[in-house]
Amino acid sequence: MLPTATSSYVVSLTPDARALRFDQWGPATSEPTAPAPLPERVPFSTPLDVAPLEYATSGTRHAQQVELVVDHGDGRRGAAWRVERPDGPASYDVSGGTTTLQVPFTDDSGGLRLTLTLRADTSHDVVEKSVVVENRSEHTVTLPRVFSGAWPVPVGAPAHVEYLTGAWGHEFTPASVDLPAGTFSIGSRQGVTGHVFAPTVTVSAAGGGSGGGTGDAYGVALAWPGSWCLAVEAPPYGEHVRVSCGVDDEDTVVTLLPGESFTTPPTLGTWSPHGAAGVTRNWHAYQRRVLARSLGPEHHPVVYNSWYATTFDVRPEHQLQLADVAAEIGAEVFVVDDGWFAGRHSDAAGLGDWTPDPDVFPDGLDPLVDGVRERGMRFGLWVEPECVNPDSDLYRAHPDWVYRVDGREPTTVRNQLVLDFGREEVVAWAEDTLRGLLTRYPVSYLKWDMNRPVSDGGRPGDVHGGQWPVQHAAGYLRVMRMLRREFPHVTVEACASGGGRVDDAVLAVADVVWPSDETGPRDRLRIQDGFLRAYPAHVMSSWVTDEPGLRDRTPVSFGYRFVVAMAGALGIGSDLLRWDAGSRAQARWLVQLYRELRPMLHGGDVVAHGVPHEPGYALEYGDGARVVILVYDTLRERRTPVRVRPRLVRDDVRYRLRGSDVTITGASARAAGIEVPWAVAPDADVLVLDPDDPDPDDPDDPRPDAPNRRSPAP
Ligand code: DGJ
Repeated sequence: MLPTATSSYVVSLTPDARALRFDQWGPATSEPTAPAPLPERVPFSTPLDVAPLEYATSGTRHAQQVELVVDHGDGRRGAAWRVERPDGPASYDVSGGTTTLQVPFTDDSGGLRLTLTLRADTSHDVVEKSVVVENRSEHTVTLPRVFSGAWPVPVGAPAHVEYLTGAWGHEFTPASVDLPAGTFSIGSRQGVTGHVFAPTVTVSAAGGGSGGGTGDAYGVALAWPGSWCLAVEAPPYGEHVRVSCGVDDEDTVVTLLPGESFTTPPTLGTWSPHGAAGVTRNWHAYQRRVLARSLGPEHHPVVYNSWYATTFDVRPEHQLQLADVAAEIGAEVFVVDDGWFAGRHSDAAGLGDWTPDPDVFPDGLDPLVDGVRERGMRFGLWVEPECVNPDSDLYRAHPDWVYRVDGREPTTVRNQLVLDFGREEVVAWAEDTLRGLLTRYPVSYLKWDMNRPVSDGGRPGDVHGGQWPVQHAAGYLRVMRMLRREFPHVTVEACASGGGRVDDAVLAVADVVWPSDETGPRDRLRIQDGFLRAYPAHVMSSWVTDEPGLRDRTPVSFGYRFVVAMAGALGIGSDLLRWDAGSRAQARWLVQLYRELRPMLHGGDVVAHGVPHEPGYALEYGDGARVVILVYDTLRERRTPVRVRPRLVRDDVRYRLRGSDVTITGASARAAGIEVPWAVAPDADVLVLDPDDPDPDDPDDPRPDAPNRRSPAP
């Protein structure tokens, strides 16, 4: 049994000791109920075929989805396992709140070993699973599919599957499907997580109303920044819907020479009795407690990024003019995006040559870096270490460093090719290049971008060449981990042409992620609503820009743009030299408000009220004591009063709406709602509910006479 904070995950060996089976997943218990016996006979099938197995392999399973396909290379496929110690698992380790179960199996041929690892911790509600496959035979074995695990979730069919889909500029769009039978699968073969699907689903019983916050719901995710696959299979037998996931099984073939092994990335699962919203809360708690190295402002600063203001026209004197205003309005880091390095005057050249452009920076970056620091901000830089322009010194020196399939012209996307991160010398070059930059200049914020998918993978002549999608992701993670280990003061923002690489593996190595290149405020609100279903607010980089929006250009106020960006890690990307004095003053006030609320916005639960673009859509943040509600309403010309009914308040606590005389108990606020005063902007507001009995000994406890919340006129 694996206990989490509020649940228990229970597995047992099948009576024939040939597999591990799923028994139970639900409220915490110390006495699991005995699993239903497996049928002795199944018409036109075998008992193992219908069992809710933790991990299934080709060769012993024919009717349902399998997680492992083995090819012995001599006409034999599959494997039949037997547990190595039938009298008990090889390892059941409880240390502190963590329980780790490891169960090794050997193939009947004796040549393969499979170890299943399951881990849970009582500080959160997420169960982690992974597997190791070892080749102990004398021959080479290939694994056309080697998934991380399966989650047999007991919801019956039809299953209601919620997921996030989209494309560049409209990532993280919520969608759902009811699955009566068969398989629904999502994934990426782009060498990165991709814009099209997020590697996570929430599964519940169709018609169970899980979206409304009630009913059992199960979340499954894959923590992997490369090509992947996630499949949900509605059962022909019994109540278990099978969710399997792992590295992509179409373009990836793992090859194990004698003595080699392969460890899968982890798959994560969580159960909630509070529907899809409960699954979201469980993910966020895990991402804050386990994946984040810190929740504080040191790695979640207010960023000014000059990309939208200058694109490739990066000139030090112009950047310093922008830095003057960025400092004035309260930015904590000034980031120079694409365009600062040798030969980079458009996206056609320079990528790979990571030295300041000598024509633009004859004295190197020092004058700009010093100027930014003198203005009281940290200095940040953009890099794209995985790619190269053919028109670059790096490519001219190492044309063999890019992915290339013999006999096929490599595909350029945005005029660039992808460096082969499956080669040791290439990954070592990336590490050394970044080490050099971060040692030479006092850069303390790095934005790592990736502006194209990986294609033309494979390495002719390399027996492991078919493993390039795994190698590429592993190389990326290796360099990201080096940054964290050797430069712990450097905040890392992960980006891939917007939200092309966002997943729980990235959240473990980056401090913030860039969810989309779409910064038009109403479109962004939709993207953020979807993003927050799977990922937390403290990683959600969001900038105020001057962009109108790619799809929805309905005008909004200046304040609305800020309240959208405050929903995550606030940044600013506007051309600040076009802002008048009134806008700068209002921006300074809004940045100050955000900085004050940041611990609450980043440290607690988030719940959404309604849907974006319906009047009164709101995001509510609660850290257990206080509540912040961001409300959006572009249809305010109707002048109808809008009330929000907070859900994260405590019924018996009396709250004061900050900056007003309004006091209300949590129970009344929940029932009757609070009328939105629209104090911050005509179409957006920030409501702060403080407990009305502040502790006089706590200097951080806000006084009821806290300054008025009304925004200054622009
Ligand atoms: C794509 C990113 O998403 C943008 O923010 C910007 O950094 C550009 N790349 C620069 O090329």
